[in-house]
Amino acid sequence: MTTSIPARLPLAGYGALIEASSTGERLEELPVGELRELVRAHHLLLLRGFSAFADAEELTAYCARWGEISMWPFGAVLELVEHENPEDHIFDHRHVPLHWDGMYRPQVPEFQLFHCVSAPGHDQGGGTVFSQTSAVLRDAGPAVRELWEQVTGIYRRKMEYYDSTAVSPVVTAHPVTAEPVIRYNEPVAPDDEFINHPDLEFTGVPAERLPEFHRSMSAALRAPEHMYTHRWRTGDLVIADNYTLLHGREAFTSRAPRHLRRVHVLGTPPLDNPALRVGGGPPPG
Ligand SMILES: [Fe+2]
Repeated sequence: MTTSIPARLPLAGYGALIEASSTGERLEELPVGELRELVRAHHLLLLRGFSAFADAEELTAYCARWGEISMWPFGAVLELVEHENPEDHIFDHRHVPLHWDGMYRPQVPEFQLFHCVSAPGHDQGGGTVFSQTSAVLRDAGPAVRELWEQVTGIYRRKMEYYDSTAVSPVVTAHPVTAEPVIRYNEPVAPDDEFINHPDLEFTGVPAERLPEFHRSMSAALRAPEHMYTHRWRTGDLVIADNYTLLHGREAFTSRAPRHLRRVHVLGTPPLDNPALRVGGGPPPG
């Protein structure tokens, strides 16, 4: 694929970077059709040094140019910022394990757009981690891949915005290209302090093989050639291919000035969540 935009490839093991050529350059001027193709081809795109969105409304208006925005009860923009007394790990400062977005919702977004309003300090952690799952499968040996292909994950999670069950084979097909991808939510160690833990169950192999499954899966997802940790700089816009990547968050220093805004953009056509079994809407009552 060729584009008119000078992108640096790869950003890390994969991904693309476009830096503003001059201060004050507006990213609204970059052709969205080409940016969308860069994300589909390279799975992750970092736009750095462009003039910032003044507020959530400006970000929303920009994201609407990417496609149909997936709306939440709170609107288009999730304000990712640490809460005083979080009821969910999303709003905590601790780590978030790898997962895909929309796994508990009626539709799965193709793109996540993250805008960094305020970055934590260099030594404060808080990177967003991404794993390129089609590359993980491409590089896996036949024995380990055969193990992974037998496993199905059953995930139950209740939080403010849904009360849902999702069931997905760990190895499944990208909904557009049919390329094999991984849909997996990493378990958290039982002694890990983690607010509002989802309920995870894995079936398809004898229970005694599950430790080997999780160990091999986590090692492959987190191998340096598959994992990229994005260290935020204020003003960064990162667009991720949520159909192919899994993502999570590093822990960060509590009260660090970390503030991201996230918007979900649906695919064309929107993808009805193939994993959703129960729920998707707000919890009853
Ligand atoms: Fe997420």
